[in-house]
Amino acid sequence: MVSEEIRKRVEALRRAINYHNYRYYVLDSPEISDEEYDALMRELRRLEEQYPELITPDSPTQRVGGKPAERFRKVQHPVPMLSLQDVFSQEELRAWRDRVYKLLSPEEISKLEYVVEPKIDGLTVVLHYDHGLFVLGATRGDGFTGEDVTANLRTVKSLPLRIPVVEDSIEAPPRLVVRGEAYISKKDFEKLNREQEERGERTFANPRNAAAGSIRQLDPRVTAQRPISLWVYQVVIVEGHEIQTQWEALEYLRKLGFPVNPLNKLFTDFDEMAEYCASWESEKEKLPYEADGLVIKINDFAIQQKLGNVGNAPRWAVAYKYQTQQEVTRLLDIRVNVGRTGVLTPYAVLEPVKIGGVTVSKATLHNYDYIKEKDIRIGDLVVVVRAGEVIPQVVRPVKEARTGDEKIFKMPDRCPVCGEPVVRPEGEVAYYCINSACPAQLARKIEHFASRRAMDIEGLGEKQADLFVQKGLVHDVADLYYLDPKKLLELEGFGEKKVQNLLSAIEASKDRPLWRLINALGIKFVGEEVAKILAERYHSIDALMNASEEELQSIPGIGPKIAKSIVDWFSRESNRKVIEKLRKAGVRMSEEETTEEETAKPLEGLTFVITGTLPLPRSKVKELIESNGGRVTDSVSRKTSYLVVGESPGSKLDKARRLGVPTISFEELQELISRGGQGGSTE
Ligand code: IVH
Repeated sequence: MVSEEIRKRVEALRRAINYHNYRYYVLDSPEISDEEYDALMRELRRLEEQYPELITPDSPTQRVGGKPAERFRKVQHPVPMLSLQDVFSQEELRAWRDRVYKLLSPEEISKLEYVVEPKIDGLTVVLHYDHGLFVLGATRGDGFTGEDVTANLRTVKSLPLRIPVVEDSIEAPPRLVVRGEAYISKKDFEKLNREQEERGERTFANPRNAAAGSIRQLDPRVTAQRPISLWVYQVVIVEGHEIQTQWEALEYLRKLGFPVNPLNKLFTDFDEMAEYCASWESEKEKLPYEADGLVIKINDFAIQQKLGNVGNAPRWAVAYKYQTQQEVTRLLDIRVNVGRTGVLTPYAVLEPVKIGGVTVSKATLHNYDYIKEKDIRIGDLVVVVRAGEVIPQVVRPVKEARTGDEKIFKMPDRCPVCGEPVVRPEGEVAYYCINSACPAQLARKIEHFASRRAMDIEGLGEKQADLFVQKGLVHDVADLYYLDPKKLLELEGFGEKKVQNLLSAIEASKDRPLWRLINALGIKFVGEEVAKILAERYHSIDALMNASEEELQSIPGIGPKIAKSIVDWFSRESNRKVIEKLRKAGVRMSEEETTEEETAKPLEGLTFVITGTLPLPRSKVKELIESNGGRVTDSVSRKTSYLVVGESPGSKLDKARRLGVPTISFEELQELISRGGQGGSTE
């Protein structure tokens, strides 16, 4: 029998985790640090391991992904999932309005309102809730029947497993079916593709394909590793709750805790709305995700009903779309990059062309298979697209324009940098240079080691890595900790100050959290996420080094491929040597398991908000506070312990004064840390 106390603790943990998850993934405004969040998750996992009978399907621990499926079960949608008619201009938009007006009375026309929503370029998902519990998630399929992708959708962090997310806010309806769009942000997409490339796996052509491919993955554990986001935009069915308009529906969904796009807008005037649509094209580029236009919906459900559908699209809504940005230009050459794992990635050298205001002279070609499938030849005129910040890509050749002089590209059989033979492992799309001493690989390894998500060494990027390798200053990543200042000073562009800064940045990196070191090593298939899982589980490089494949595989989120790669990496003599060299240099190799008895940190229990420019980048100040036990939040409230004020502070200062929150300078913060968290000055 589980005691009441434990049951209560588990419930409290879940409530807290769900709440903080919501702050982080839906509101984008976390209240606690990642470490604090991890500690809550750790405790919950531990209790659930000990008392499996307490595990529920909506527990936040259940987002990890279940067993792989053979294929997806078919799901019949409760009502058809309609599609939209498109308009591409103001004229077409007015023509739509005129068609609508014809079917309505003057009175109805005078009261028309329009909801305008960004049209997210992702994959439609239909989510079913039974008395607040997420019970089924399906793809759109042909609009009538979709596929059951519940297990995959459970891993999407902003998807509520139970509504309302913030308890007691409103009541869950007995039945709710909602429609939304699963998508991957531009930034996450680029990161994902970089990782795919490193692993020698297929890269995705665009964020939409990446999202669709991830949701339609048979192994939910793979989906769990993919950065999928969600916007919800339609109430398909609700029981026990009255909704009259689309605007009310969006508000209702937001209150239940669903991610609802804050850019949705309500218009009472057609012309104003049309103008907004026209002006939105430039805004769309700035969005962190891809939207291929706007969706305009007539607000009132009674009028929607009256207008009905034509074919598989409603008359009461329309998609206002922009042509994607593409241009035709000449493909001058195909060259090959060498990545840190030795993957050879072909890229296009283009005759420079302006696409959406940006000059493009290079574009990705993904991999050799892509070039062959699309029959892209050197000298071809090619269609190049650029969407937002996404890397430009060659989508196809213009075959009609061929002269016969075009050349078919062949993957080089020797590495373009070191000249050693190139191999293609069976079952992989990528070609590799397997010379571990290849200077290109080494330079990319160093660049990765020093990068922001790894050891975070400021001032050490692509150029410096190339230079150090070329000059023979480093032969492995550990050599960074043994750099000779005299030799650095001899390099072009390296003065006293620069060398000093670089060396102190390298010195500072010795004390990074363990996950950063694990990520920095550049083990195939081990990125930031996996590194965090490993650090949390093993707490030291030595323990990780001695883990067996079997043991590694038993960890949620670690599959057989990753496990094998880790064991292979540590079994190599040269890699073990690097570890020893790092250890000797004083790089931190372990971290304490956090225990209750740990000595209190000086800022424990204190909450800080930062405003204005400080002597250090904000992320560093945040790190400083957090490593001393404090937490940093975004907005000032009565619960804020101190507002840290830098130069030209913003409105947060006014708010702090109004609420009587004490303010301190950066120097006072440092003092607070050294004095052990007592005092500080109040204005
Ligand atoms: S409304 C009848 N709203 O666009 C209602 N769709 O071409 C139809 N989409 O398959 C959908 N954002 O996947 C609607 N805010 C939004 C949307 C949206 C993206 C997608 C949806 C649909 C496609 C329609």
